[in-house]
Amino acid sequence: MNMMNFLKTRKSTREFKNKQLAENDYKKVDEIISEINFEAQQYLIKMKLYENGENIFQNLKGIAGYSGVMIESPHYVALENEPIKPVSMIYSGYFMEKLITELNNLGIGTCWISLSNVNSELKKKVFGEGSERLNYLLAIGYPKPKSPFAEEHFSERIGVEEMVYIDNFEKNVNIDELENRGLGDLFFYVRFAPSTLNKQPWRFILHDGYIELLLIDDGNISYIDAGIIMYYFEELAKIQGMNSQWELVLEQIEHKNVKYIIVGKYKI
Ligand SMILES: Cc1cc2nc3c(=O)[nH]c(=O)nc-3n(C[C@H](O)[C@H](O)[C@H](O)COP(=O)(O)O)c2cc1C
Repeated sequence: MNMMNFLKTRKSTREFKNKQLAENDYKKVDEIISEINFEAQQYLIKMKLYENGENIFQNLKGIAGYSGVMIESPHYVALENEPIKPVSMIYSGYFMEKLITELNNLGIGTCWISLSNVNSELKKKVFGEGSERLNYLLAIGYPKPKSPFAEEHFSERIGVEEMVYIDNFEKNVNIDELENRGLGDLFFYVRFAPSTLNKQPWRFILHDGYIELLLIDDGNISYIDAGIIMYYFEELAKIQGMNSQWELVLEQIEHKNVKYIIVGKYKI
């Protein structure tokens, strides 16, 4: 599916068919994960596919996920990383969304699940030795078809004007100006990227020759969210013929009593 359509319609899947993935799909998922692991290992990231979702769900229900709401799925992908290293967290978001995009192309739905409330003893019981580096799960499976009469749940997104600035935080962008720079579609669609608790902590400042990505630092910063938007930004930029990659900066700044981390720069 084209990236713009995917992002606009992209939603977390929280209800899955009670059905294992078909053997060929399961094999493809395993192959995609191996390829991603090869690229991501330099950031101390490793993904592992667990076939027996039932065992994981039974052990983590009431504990994992937002307020203990564990998502039930036939299989899970476990994500190992280094939470104290921003770069490891950033690229965890980046590569997980790459996986999510490829799974979507196979008709497979996904939902991130946070394991911050799961202690290391329980992690070890469920996932075995070495699981202390395991911090997130991805629920995967075929989505349950939605009733055409049920009201669709939609997670709100902030407007482009609230997210994008020119030169500094004093000047919000206007849509015409973005269109003139050929960046209207990119920023319209990138807003649909997912984030922890749907906080959408991303801000962009356009400069001559480069775009800066900042993350609001509310004391509970999630670098994963930065990596997520970096991935979708790069993919959408490719459609516009821009092929740069984000270069990390990781500097703290403050504006009107709000702290931000400058995450990176994208040359245009
Ligand atoms: C790092 C991360 C952790 C998340 N953890 C959970 C979770 O534990 N449970 C859950 O239901 N959704 C979780 N989500 C899903 C987000 O809440 C969801 O993507 C966001 O609200 C936007 O909604 P959408 O994906 O339907 O567009 C997580 C998302 C991210 C990026």
